[in-house]
Amino acid sequence: MLQAQATLVLILLGPPGAGKGTQAGILAKTLQIPHISTGDLLRLNVKGETSLGKEAQGYMNGGKLVPDDLILDMLFDRVGAPDCEKGYILDGFPRTLAQAEAYHKRLGNDVKLAALNLELSDDVIVERLEKRFVCSGCSAPYHLITSPPQKEGSCDRCNSPLVKRTDDDEKVVRKRLAVYHSQTAPLITYYSKGQSFKGVSCNRPINDILEEILDYLQEVAR
Ligand code: AP5
Repeated sequence: MLQAQATLVLILLGPPGAGKGTQAGILAKTLQIPHISTGDLLRLNVKGETSLGKEAQGYMNGGKLVPDDLILDMLFDRVGAPDCEKGYILDGFPRTLAQAEAYHKRLGNDVKLAALNLELSDDVIVERLEKRFVCSGCSAPYHLITSPPQKEGSCDRCNSPLVKRTDDDEKVVRKRLAVYHSQTAPLITYYSKGQSFKGVSCNRPINDILEEILDYLQEVAR
């Protein structure tokens, strides 16, 4: 089985609903490194009614990006934790050029960086998010048709109830897509200039995508 090299940083770029969380969850288990989703971290803050959560909630419900300074503080705090020493998977970060630049300025030279862009059309995304449910406990994503839970309404991993995300309402999804195209998609050019960048088509089964990613990570590790 592929094991993460010391300090592998895997960045998963891609529009909302492309499958970043789905792939990151499986890759984290396979590579035995943490899956860090800035969206999940923010939702935990919203649930815990922290000052960050209270500030972030309005942006998230409106489909807008949370300001860079709030995200960077939260992210740097998380990646500084001991479990990230051997590497980690970033899902949903960076989302702006300013986030990418601030992050790479802080990152040492001794990391192996791989950036993947998960590609999916807006129409398929709208359809997928309409049928998505997420675990209220561990945030694992499910889909009514393509990846239903074993027991209806409960998470396979932790048994917590499944819920709809408030930002999966179609109007908000369309706003998130517009924000993605204007503020986050430019990162594709930023990362494609580096050595370890790959686009991955995501309109196919989860396991086929996973296999392509794992093959690519084998190449990067060589
Ligand atoms: P965040 O939580 O990061 O959401 P997102 O990027 O919009 O992505 P999603 O979680 O919606 O989708 P995904 O790509 O993970 O897809 P999934 O695997 O679930 O961000 C939410 C909000 O937080 C943002 O709008 C913003 O306000 C804020 N935020 C977060 N990070 C920020 C940052 N860095 N800066 C500023 N603000 C930030 O899959 C989707 C569905 O498809 C699921 O139902 C799944 O089961 C299904 N599926 C997955 N793969 C397949 C497949 N191959 N075939 C069929 N179905 C599939």
